[in-house]
Amino acid sequence: MKRLVRIITLSAFLITTHHALFADEGMWIPMLLNKNIDRMQQLGCKLSAEEIYSINRSSLKDAVVQFGRGCTGEVVSPKGLLLTNHHCGFGIIQRHSSLEHDYLTDGFWAASMDQELPNPGLTVTFLVRMEDVTSRVLEGVPGNLQENERDMRIRKNIRSITKKETEGTHYNASVIPYFNGNQYFLYVTEVFKDIRFVGAPPSGIGKFGGDTDNWMWPRHTGDFSVFRIYADSNNLPAEYSASNVPYKPKHYFPVSLGGYDEGDFALLFGNPGSTREYLPSYAVEMIAFKENPVKIGLRQKRLDIIGYSMDTSRLVRIQYASKYAGIANYWKKMIGETRGIKKADGVAKKQKAEQEFQQWASSRENEGKGYAEILPLFEKLYQELYPGDMATIYLREAGMAPEIFNLTTDAQELIRIAGEDTVSDETVQAAKESLLRSARGFYKNYQPQIDQMITNEMLQQMQDHMEQKYLPDIFGTIAKNYHGDIGSYTFNLFASSQFTDSTRFYRFMRKFNRKSARKLADDPAYLLGKSILEKYREEVVPSGRAVTSRIDSLQRVYLQAQMEMQPASQFYPDANSTMRVCFGKIEGFKPADAVDYRCYTTTQGILEKEDSSIYDYAVDQRLNELIASADYGRYADADGTMHVAFTSTIHSTGGNSGAPVLNGKGELIGINFDRNWEGTMSDLIYDPDQCRNIVLDIRYLLFILDHYAGEKWLINEMDIRK
Ligand code: ARG
Ligand code: GLU
Repeated sequence: MKRLVRIITLSAFLITTHHALFADEGMWIPMLLNKNIDRMQQLGCKLSAEEIYSINRSSLKDAVVQFGRGCTGEVVSPKGLLLTNHHCGFGIIQRHSSLEHDYLTDGFWAASMDQELPNPGLTVTFLVRMEDVTSRVLEGVPGNLQENERDMRIRKNIRSITKKETEGTHYNASVIPYFNGNQYFLYVTEVFKDIRFVGAPPSGIGKFGGDTDNWMWPRHTGDFSVFRIYADSNNLPAEYSASNVPYKPKHYFPVSLGGYDEGDFALLFGNPGSTREYLPSYAVEMIAFKENPVKIGLRQKRLDIIGYSMDTSRLVRIQYASKYAGIANYWKKMIGETRGIKKADGVAKKQKAEQEFQQWASSRENEGKGYAEILPLFEKLYQELYPGDMATIYLREAGMAPEIFNLTTDAQELIRIAGEDTVSDETVQAAKESLLRSARGFYKNYQPQIDQMITNEMLQQMQDHMEQKYLPDIFGTIAKNYHGDIGSYTFNLFASSQFTDSTRFYRFMRKFNRKSARKLADDPAYLLGKSILEKYREEVVPSGRAVTSRIDSLQRVYLQAQMEMQPASQFYPDANSTMRVCFGKIEGFKPADAVDYRCYTTTQGILEKEDSSIYDYAVDQRLNELIASADYGRYADADGTMHVAFTSTIHSTGGNSGAPVLNGKGELIGINFDRNWEGTMSDLIYDPDQCRNIVLDIRYLLFILDHYAGEKWLINEMDIRK
């Protein structure tokens, strides 16, 4: 079973001669690094496990944060200066942008702390400590319980653990399942709420290559943005206040100018979101060859519609840049994932491993454990899951794709309570204010003509491809009142709804009272959203849950059995948005016959890609001049070139964007921002030959900050080492 990590302790001699055996697959639990540290040190790590993660003294983990909900960031100065990716700050930069201040196109640089911009709602989260609480979670939970009874008892135990562990503190706590629920860890965190935007390069640098280069190597994107954490006068988290002061971290990363060589050790500290490495072949086949193609097709249609309008209007480009990037990102990832599984023969590999498992499970010594029934049962359950799964995909990727869906969903609460006599006028007023706030954010970036085309196309797709019984009721109305003509239905909807036109909406809301709320409840856009949500929440999800909960518990037993079968192998838990340490070597790869990629890119490649007629490849004028003069100063590599990005064998996934990549001494050498397209199947199956993460070279970041933006005051805050 090659895909399972086998880092069995062997001599250093064996490792150099058989290094292919030691794929650096895995996302490891920081508090358990003792199990990995030998291997890490063999690769060149100079740190001890205690220096990386400790609860008794400051350690590397104290400089790593979860940025917002989906990214990672790192602290690089004693004044709470924070680095993350440009694409992680993208939504924030976009929110500060308008036609007058287009920070997306032009970049933004605070010249001093008082120019830093506050961001309501943005948080960063530090990990205070973690602890294995499996025995406490499973107390009074015998193995033979029904899945929902089991869930209930576990949830109750978890509530009492998190309560006890945070009592009398300002910390948050959560208990999170690992290994498909075979183990549980407590996470105690500290959340900071005053996070200010310090600077970001123009998109021509920070998003250079755009969606054309996204998920691809060779890469030349300066994908970074800069923030700062603020705290109250006691260095504790506080809501935004002008009197807050820069946060003093327990640890911050020194920054290295020393560079790296191919083969060097590298370590990543981050919050990988989700992987599914231990699935049976039936699931992998379904994801790669049934789910992904449908999702890809639906997203493609939306991208075509939005992309066309973005190309023809600067305003639309600003309004839709972030939405477009969001849709395009996983569209492209899924294309890579499916290709990767096909190329690596992933399903066949799983099947082969399953044959071995089946043999072991059917052997005399395992009789009576029930392991031999696992795989046949998986096959049956995935077949049962399939129709509802497809319906879920259409409802989510098509039914919820119209943008207006978001606003009508936000209106639900107001519409519901306005009609209830027991609800006070104040509460109704508060709900109205809240809807108006959502509406302001919504209309800032809204073009009804675009949304009408999307709605039309998505409903058509649903009508053409969904099984009748899963179609939301609104399709009955369309059949009856519009002879099934989706086009005239959407035309009518967009022409008459209160939601699809901001002027109409605000006029309506000015005169809003409890009676007129009834009118909103009959609004066609509202009825569409409601119909989709009802089908989804009240039918498809509940009926799917019966199967998924059985799959989940089977998956738990399957993983436990695999661990039993291979007692000497070291298993790592699937990513679950908790902090992990991943490590590997800086290394290029060979994606195809006769193609051999070097492990780093230089500014030379920016000039090679330059093409002012292609939006993604327009090079900023000033950057162009700086590269032409080749004056890189201390930021140049030993060979005189300016490195932009590099690749390593680190096993990474979404959520690790913005994560610090460190050398063996714990100094920052780069910021993780992507993976190679050929390797995106690593969320399901890691292939050591093809899977690479893509890292921004920290020296390019410093060069841009210093020579391009003139932000010397930020450079001076950092501990920059030769
Ligand atoms: N692929 C990277 C990650 O998954 C970067 C995404 C943002 N960039 C973009 N062009 N959409 O998130
Ligand atoms: N860009 C991704 C992120 O936002 C990281 C790339 C990956 O999926 O590995 O987390």
